[in-house]
Amino acid sequence: MKIQNICCIGAGYVGGPTMAVIAQKCPHIKVTVVDINESRIAAWNDDNLNNLPVFEPGLDQVVQDARGRNLFFSTNVDEAINNAEMIFISVNTPTKTYGKGKGMAADLKYIELCARQIARVSKTDKIVVEKSTLPVRTASAIKSILDSTGNDVKFQILSNPEFLAEGTAVDDLLEPDRVLIGGDPTTNEGKKAIDSLVEIYSNWVPREQILTTNVWSSELSKLTANAFLAQRVSSINAMSEICEKTGADVNEVAKAIGMDSRIGPKFLKASVGFGGSCFQKDILNLVYIAKSYGLDEAANYWEQVVIMNNHQKQRFSDNIVSTLYNTVSGKKIAFLGWAFKKDTNDTRESAAIKVADNLLSEQAKISVYDPKVIAERMYADLDYLNSRGSDENRDLLSVHKNPYEACEESHGIAILTEWDEFKDYDWERIYASMKKPAFIFDGRGIMDKNQLENIGFEYYKIGSGE
Ligand code: NAD
Ligand code: UGA
Repeated sequence: MKIQNICCIGAGYVGGPTMAVIAQKCPHIKVTVVDINESRIAAWNDDNLNNLPVFEPGLDQVVQDARGRNLFFSTNVDEAINNAEMIFISVNTPTKTYGKGKGMAADLKYIELCARQIARVSKTDKIVVEKSTLPVRTASAIKSILDSTGNDVKFQILSNPEFLAEGTAVDDLLEPDRVLIGGDPTTNEGKKAIDSLVEIYSNWVPREQILTTNVWSSELSKLTANAFLAQRVSSINAMSEICEKTGADVNEVAKAIGMDSRIGPKFLKASVGFGGSCFQKDILNLVYIAKSYGLDEAANYWEQVVIMNNHQKQRFSDNIVSTLYNTVSGKKIAFLGWAFKKDTNDTRESAAIKVADNLLSEQAKISVYDPKVIAERMYADLDYLNSRGSDENRDLLSVHKNPYEACEESHGIAILTEWDEFKDYDWERIYASMKKPAFIFDGRGIMDKNQLENIGFEYYKIGSGE
């Protein structure tokens, strides 16, 4: 099937950038991204590219190239579904917050709603592509819904998980390590569906990097990739604690092991804990799947990655309290960074939220500076935890547009995100404005210990036992 019209349901962190790149690279295909969230669609259509709902380096240029030419953002979901030969489902698949599997399983209600809407609206044959991250075998549920329409429309289901990381989304999409397409090669229609998606990516991705598998392998590979990546972070974080007790330095250890080509250097940066919308969610989902097959050892093995991550956040805030003479009550702690990593305004599951919550429970006063995250987002993150009233959160935590102001009169500074600009601040000026002794708790290991200690700071770096 020659694809001329694509519809993508879900204009979020994945749907927006992914479709923008497809539209930029395939000017012959009309791409319409739809969402029920009107303000999100309005932001994607905003003339001022600084107002796009997702901040990603380079995204503004891609959107500018394609928007209005062959890239459109709309709230008219039915129309876009009906006009498309290929429909990507890119809606959110959060952890369930209710019922069976609460706190572990993926909530598939948005996926099912999409499938039902596609089934209801479609008048011509469609290829439906799972772009969202889904539990293995979800495609069979989607197929069952789509095949029960009774209107003779035929559907092919493909799995095409997304591997982009936030902050580097555009580069990851333009030059992916691989594109994974799962489909059913045992039927003619299945083969054709796979070929049409391969053809789209072939417009800019070398053919040998486009991998085709069966649907179940594709679905499971996505969960596996995230589990392995998160496991590396938890592994190095576990070592960071051992380094602190033994006088080793985790960066040196990471370098030493990373030079072994079998281990490799990436994803070995010790931190205050991984965040982001997916690592925890996808591992818990994997754990749930394993448990549901009675595979308790496999489930417990992977769950430990999340347990270690929670421990890392907890011990970071515990260390702040014990270092500040076992009490932070009424003391001002400055936070540099709130986003879950640099170069994004996304805060989902950011370690900063848990560290702040722990310190607020100890009655600390927190002043935050993050170059990209707005105050409303930070308050929403804290309110969501329900640890205290929202008025109290606003009383105890202040948000600043200027890092020097955030650090003024503070007893300690906690670095929660590895934004590059932090390294270039006038640290002498910051030191002069703080209470003494002035502490820095570097949860990202980005600062120069000697430089800061020469100024007079008491410097704690995650994973450094010196
Ligand atoms: P998101 O929350 O940013 O966006 C999802 C969008 O879907 C929202 O705007 C929501 O309004 C919309 N939506 C939900 N139900 C809808 C419906 N019935 N009709 C129309 N719109 C609907 O989520 P995201 O971060 O883009 O993640 C989407 C999926 O991609 C998830 O499964 C996630 O695990 C996966 N993923 C995310 C990333 C990432 O970096 N964020 C990377 C790879 C994979
Ligand atoms: C991650 C994966 O890298 C993507 O491949 C995947 O598509 C995506 O999840 C997803 O499925 O959502 P993302 O969460 O955007 O991408 O960002 P990462 O760069 O993976 O970082 C995740 C967290 O781990 C961040 O908090 C980061 O600071 C932390 N991290 C990462 C470390 O603490 N140390 C490291 O060495 C690497």
